[in-house]
Amino acid sequence: MISKLPSVGTTIFTVMSALAQKHQAVNLSQGFPDFEPDSALVEIVAYYLKKGYHQYAHMAGILPLREAIAQKTAHCYGVKPDPETEVTVTSGATEALFAAISAVVRPADEVIVFEPCYDSYIPAIELNAGKVVPISLCFPDFSVDWKQVEEKINPKTRLLIINSPHNPTGSVLRKADLESLEKIVEKHPNLYILSDEVYEHIIFGQTHESVLRYESLRSRSFVISSFGKTYHVTGWKLGYCVAPPALSKEFRKVHQFLTFSSHTPTQWALADYLQEKERYETLGDFYEQKRNFFRQILEKTPFELLPCKGTYFQLASFRQISTQSDTAFAEYLVKEIGVAVVPISGFYSQNTDNQVVRFCFAKKQETLEQAGERLTKL
Ligand SMILES: Cc1ncc(COP(=O)(O)O)c(C=O)c1O
Repeated sequence: MISKLPSVGTTIFTVMSALAQKHQAVNLSQGFPDFEPDSALVEIVAYYLKKGYHQYAHMAGILPLREAIAQKTAHCYGVKPDPETEVTVTSGATEALFAAISAVVRPADEVIVFEPCYDSYIPAIELNAGKVVPISLCFPDFSVDWKQVEEKINPKTRLLIINSPHNPTGSVLRKADLESLEKIVEKHPNLYILSDEVYEHIIFGQTHESVLRYESLRSRSFVISSFGKTYHVTGWKLGYCVAPPALSKEFRKVHQFLTFSSHTPTQWALADYLQEKERYETLGDFYEQKRNFFRQILEKTPFELLPCKGTYFQLASFRQISTQSDTAFAEYLVKEIGVAVVPISGFYSQNTDNQVVRFCFAKKQETLEQAGERLTKL
């Protein structure tokens, strides 16, 4: 059979996790917490399970959850989307990304992505017969060269995908970035924005610049978030998309044939739990402590640490340790040192290798300490 995705193989995350298991390594590769979510949240889900909330939810998500999302959006970003027409609950951010891309990208449309980028964007564009236009973030601070963006946009450019805080680099977009984007897009009425904001609450020492704060961007954007990231429940696969009515209408046309609706009891539980603002408001501090703790550990090793302003990922250069490619070094690390990481070349379509690997620090203190003990052998 002729593959529709010839360049997609087993992802580097799967490869590294399998190697981690085989070599009994401390797994800091894939981005998920190894600690429990809040037991109160689990109890609320159990309550709704026992109460009999087992059947299909509303296609766009149960209304109380969409209302809670709208209120949270107003609280965080000063603009309240209409829960009826502008908020859609999805089966994780991954589904929302796919639905948004499918809703707007037609054959031969161009889509700008910034590399390194999250691995689901490019296959989703390709499955819709779109053309990927990659722009590299500037190494080593992974900032955006907006002049280059302006040069790459043409009448065929249909979508621009941004992600802040950014996986895998931990960089964040600042006010000046969004203002540059505003100036660029105002000349292109048929250009849409997909803003992946799944780490919106995992940001350190500054406020998150959501596109929802900028009216001229908001009016053409799909803004995506994930409860998995915010509440330490990645396996629940629940997320959402906020977009203006015309965009949400097209988004829902795809969503209803992709999954139709999402897991019912967790939606009811999250509708209640979202009322407690401090649960998401304290997330940044929680992960900032983990970041600081893990950076102290890495500072005792020959790794050179790159800045981490958000997300639960820490990048480190291994230039002082080895001249190997990042993939070969990651394999060495998992097999010989017993720590699994992800090589950053896996996030570039051309496998750009800056000799940098990604550690996930969404882990218990003892897991990070155990990794530290092993890494000091380097
Ligand atoms: C940048 C980014 N977007 C989207 C996702 C997917 O989120 P979800 O698990 O809710 O599908 C992830 C998960 O790692 C991510 O890092």
